[in-house]
Amino acid sequence: MIRSAPPTQELLEIAIDVARDAAATAHRMRAEGVSVAATKSTVTDVVTAADRAVERQVLDALRKLRPDDAVLGEEYGAGDTGPVEAGGVRWIVDPIDGTVNYLYGLPYCAVSLAAEVAGEVVVGVVRNVATGEEWTATAGGGAWRDGERLRCSTETDLGQALVATGFGYDPGRRAHQARVVAELIPHVRDIRRMGAAALDLCLAAEGRVDAYYEKGLAAWDQAAGGLVATEAGLRVAGLDGLPAGPDLVIAAPPALFAPLHSRLAALDASGGP
Ligand code: IPD
Repeated sequence: MIRSAPPTQELLEIAIDVARDAAATAHRMRAEGVSVAATKSTVTDVVTAADRAVERQVLDALRKLRPDDAVLGEEYGAGDTGPVEAGGVRWIVDPIDGTVNYLYGLPYCAVSLAAEVAGEVVVGVVRNVATGEEWTATAGGGAWRDGERLRCSTETDLGQALVATGFGYDPGRRAHQARVVAELIPHVRDIRRMGAAALDLCLAAEGRVDAYYEKGLAAWDQAAGGLVATEAGLRVAGLDGLPAGPDLVIAAPPALFAPLHSRLAALDASGGP
């Protein structure tokens, strides 16, 4: 069955409400104390009870508001939602991006919620659990933080660029990523590794870092933040004309994209395990 997609504004309003409630739960659970509930890919790739409770809350809220939509989440995958129908909506949720920061009480972790229609992300909301800062974007409608329209950095010189990145959990992957960053750092102003990809993309959207790259991101890490970055004017893509994806996400202002891309390509940033 082919369904017509609901207006983007309607999806945005739902995403904001659901993300705010989710962030409130994460905030409350953090105040009550947090511990590791399980580990995933490695012993340092942790899940807290809040990751699960927040995703469950998001799933329940979306099921109530939009029962026919599909959902993809970090903790429960597609849950018990069915496949995406043609014209249908798929929500992509990271209940807590920056779980290690959340565990340690560092104020850099976020709920990330995106809505995709026909494979294109049309709505993104990222809300910092600790500070309440909220970034939103709609396809073609711009990127915003707390009512302010966002524009990315106007930096044109890679040597002056502050570049954010992140590392995966697998030791082999981290070793490769560390080699790449060691070769990149002499050619940029400095590197930041803050620990939440969705927020890194939002900071790039407002020029609080100039650019961002990372290998190994999942859809839930980059869906909402990627739209915020794109709508703020960054070019968000992978290597050699590929779309941004698990192999590599590069988010850079137009003038920085080519020089950063060629450095990362030369360093085999999408390679390794
Ligand atoms: C992680 C964070 C981190 C990035 C990792 C992600 P999680 O997500 O976004 O900054 O470097 O690649 O897996 O595990 O905290 O949801």
